[in-house]
Amino acid sequence: MSTIIIDGKDVSQRIREGLKAEVAELTAAGRTPGLAVVLVGEDPASQVYVGSKVRACEELGIYSQKWALPAETTQEELVELIHKLNADDRIHGILVQSPPPPHIDEEAVILNIDPRKDVDGFHPVNVAKLVLEEEDGFVPCTPLGCMELLKAYNIPTAGKHAVVIGRSMIVGKPMANLLVSKKANATVTIAHSRTADLPALCRTADIIVAAVGRPEMVKADFVKPGAVVLDVGINRIDDASRPRGYRIVGDVDYADVCDKCSAITPVPGGVGPMTIAMLMANTVKACRQLTC
Ligand code: GUN
Repeated sequence: MSTIIIDGKDVSQRIREGLKAEVAELTAAGRTPGLAVVLVGEDPASQVYVGSKVRACEELGIYSQKWALPAETTQEELVELIHKLNADDRIHGILVQSPPPPHIDEEAVILNIDPRKDVDGFHPVNVAKLVLEEEDGFVPCTPLGCMELLKAYNIPTAGKHAVVIGRSMIVGKPMANLLVSKKANATVTIAHSRTADLPALCRTADIIVAAVGRPEMVKADFVKPGAVVLDVGINRIDDASRPRGYRIVGDVDYADVCDKCSAITPVPGGVGPMTIAMLMANTVKACRQLTC
């Protein structure tokens, strides 16, 4: 049995093309979607992500603002900016890149984002809407992207056992909620650092979602033959043979696992490109809901 390599670049490209047409229509009606991306500090990975988000906006015709604030920015200054963006009619989505510097209380900052502009889906109002399965809320972009990949490849979820490794508010918990929802109807187990015998648990899974941030942790002995493996990890590991001195690997040991599963997302080129496509989709959705 040959393994399907899930092509997130291709799926995200098609989604972006659809969004571009939607943005053109909205713009013609005087409703150009707008996204504000806020970065505090100089974390190199965050700088790359924020750059990609702004570039994606430009490609789609979405108005964007990039706020690169110094690492010393206070909580009060950040909250003041968010209030300004909440009141700005050109802006329909507000995103504060995570993680912020340690002196910033991220949860408190998120509470200040107007939930109608919370395109990351991190505000408690949107967390509640996901749990309640209310359609007008915002779902975090990475798990939303994973669901789109399953849909694009006609991978069934109903009645399947999904094991989500990781319990973060950005990926693990929303992913579990999406899979268990009445739309997807999977049976879901959330595993984490204290789970007993993780390989044995994972071997009972039809779908594994790896979102722990530990390079190549998921090995072949975690995988039931024919399982679907979605790798959310983006880890930099030292590699002197590369021009940048590092390479990117996922949370799954791709070479070890690949032949055993029926479908797998590579890193890079799997889940990663979907995250930005879903951010664009959420921004267009926010614009529609705020300007209708
Ligand atoms: N850092 C890593 N992923 C994300 C994301 O989806 N949104 C934000 N704001 N920060 C992140």
